[in-house]
Amino acid sequence: MAAIEPAVAQGRRVVVCVSGGIAAYKAAEVVRALVRCGADVRVAMTPAATRFVGPDTFAALSGHRVLIDLFDASGEVAHVELARGAELAVVVPATADLLARMAYGHAGDAVAATLLTVTCPVLVAPAMHTEMWEHPATRANVDTLERRGVTFVGPERGELSSGDVGIGRMAEPDDIVTAALTLLARGQDLAGRRVVVTAGGTQEPIDPVRFIGNRSSGLMGYTIARAAARRGAKVTLVSGPTNLPPPPGVELVRVRTAEEMHDAVVAVAPDADVIVKAAAVADFRPQKSSPVKLKKAAGPPEVRLEPTVDILAELGAHPELRKPGGLLIGFAAETEADPEALARVAEDKRASKGADVVVANDVGSSDSGFNVPTNRAVIATARGTRDVGLVTKAALAEALIDEIAGLLAEA
Ligand code: CTP
Repeated sequence: MAAIEPAVAQGRRVVVCVSGGIAAYKAAEVVRALVRCGADVRVAMTPAATRFVGPDTFAALSGHRVLIDLFDASGEVAHVELARGAELAVVVPATADLLARMAYGHAGDAVAATLLTVTCPVLVAPAMHTEMWEHPATRANVDTLERRGVTFVGPERGELSSGDVGIGRMAEPDDIVTAALTLLARGQDLAGRRVVVTAGGTQEPIDPVRFIGNRSSGLMGYTIARAAARRGAKVTLVSGPTNLPPPPGVELVRVRTAEEMHDAVVAVAPDADVIVKAAAVADFRPQKSSPVKLKKAAGPPEVRLEPTVDILAELGAHPELRKPGGLLIGFAAETEADPEALARVAEDKRASKGADVVVANDVGSSDSGFNVPTNRAVIATARGTRDVGLVTKAALAEALIDEIAGLLAEA
C-alpha cells in the first residue's frame, strides 16, 4: 500500500479512548503523533486508565480537557459532544474488559459511552495477556466488533508486561498512527457519489405462503452499503427480505421478487455512479403463482420454472440504462475455495456480464459465504485479479470500496 500522507489528518477530529492497561503510556505517543499530523485530538479515559497515566499528560498533549467522568460536565452531555464531531475513534490500549463492554454496548463510563455514541470508523489496538486474547469470550467479542466494521491493529507477538512472551502485545504507536491515517484517508473518498447496492435473496412465490428462495442473509450487501455510506456516498440499498437492521444514513428500498428488484434498480440506475449487485437473485421463478394457497389434498403440485431477467447482465449490455462512466459491480457465488479457480470465474463473469468489477466468493465452505461473518474472495477488475483471502465481510467491503474509489478517481 502506498505511504499515507500525514496531511490527511489535518484539522480532522480524532477521539482517542484510553483504557486501563500497562500499554496506556504508549497512548501518549499516539496522541502526540496525531497532533503533529495536524489532527484535532480529544481524549477520553476510563477511571482505570488514570492509574497508569495522568490525565494531565493527555490534556497537555492534546490541548483539551480530558473526559473521565460521565457526569463532570457543566450541564453538557460531554460524551455526546465528544462523539458527535468525531471522524475517527482510536482505542489505545483496548483491554479485554473494554472489548467485552464494546461488544455488549455498555455505556457505564466516559470511554464506553463515547464508543457507543460515535458513528465514525473505530480503530482498536488491543493489549492483554495471551490467555485473555485467546479466550473464546474475547474471540467472540472481537468477532462481533469486526462484523460491525471495527478495525483492529495488532495485537502482536512479543514480550508482555508479565514477562511472558506471546500474542497480546499492543501494536507499536507508529503502526497505530499509520492505521489511523489509513482510515482517515478512506474517510470520505466516496463523497458526492451515488451508490446503489442490492442485497439479500429474492423470494419467488409459488402461492401466497410458499416461495422459492435461497440462503443469502444479505449481510455482505448491507455491509457494503454501510461502508459506502460511511465513506461519504449517498447510498440506496435495494434489499430482498432479510432480518438485518437498515444501516444508518442509507435509503432502503424493500423488494421481494427478482422482478421487483429489477424495477427498483433500473429506476435508480441512471443516477448511480456505482451499482453493486451483491444480491442473490433467483435465476428462475415459477411460471405461475397460485392466487390461493395450494392444498395438500390436491397432491404434489407441478411447479414449472421460467428464467428471471438477469439484472446485472442487462445493465452490462445496456449502458444507456446507466449513468455515463458509472461502475457496474457483480458478485459470483461459487462452491470453490481455490483462489485461482475463483479468479478465473471472476474474470469470466466480468466479461460475460459486461461488469467493471466482479467479486467471486466461496459459498461452499463453512467459514465463507452464507450466514457467516467471513468471506473468501477474489476481486477482478480491468487491472487484473486480487486475491483478498479469507476476511471479514467488513474487511471485504472496505477492500471492494478501495477498488471502486480507485477506479472512480482514475475515470
Ligand atoms: N444476478 C442478477 N440477476 C439475476 C441473477 C443474478 O443481477 N437474475 C447477479 C447477481 O446479483 C450477481 C451476479 O449476477 O451479482 C452473479 O450471479 P450468480 O447467480 O452467481 O451467477 P449466474 O450468472 O446466475 O451464473 P451461475 O449461477 O450459473 O454461476
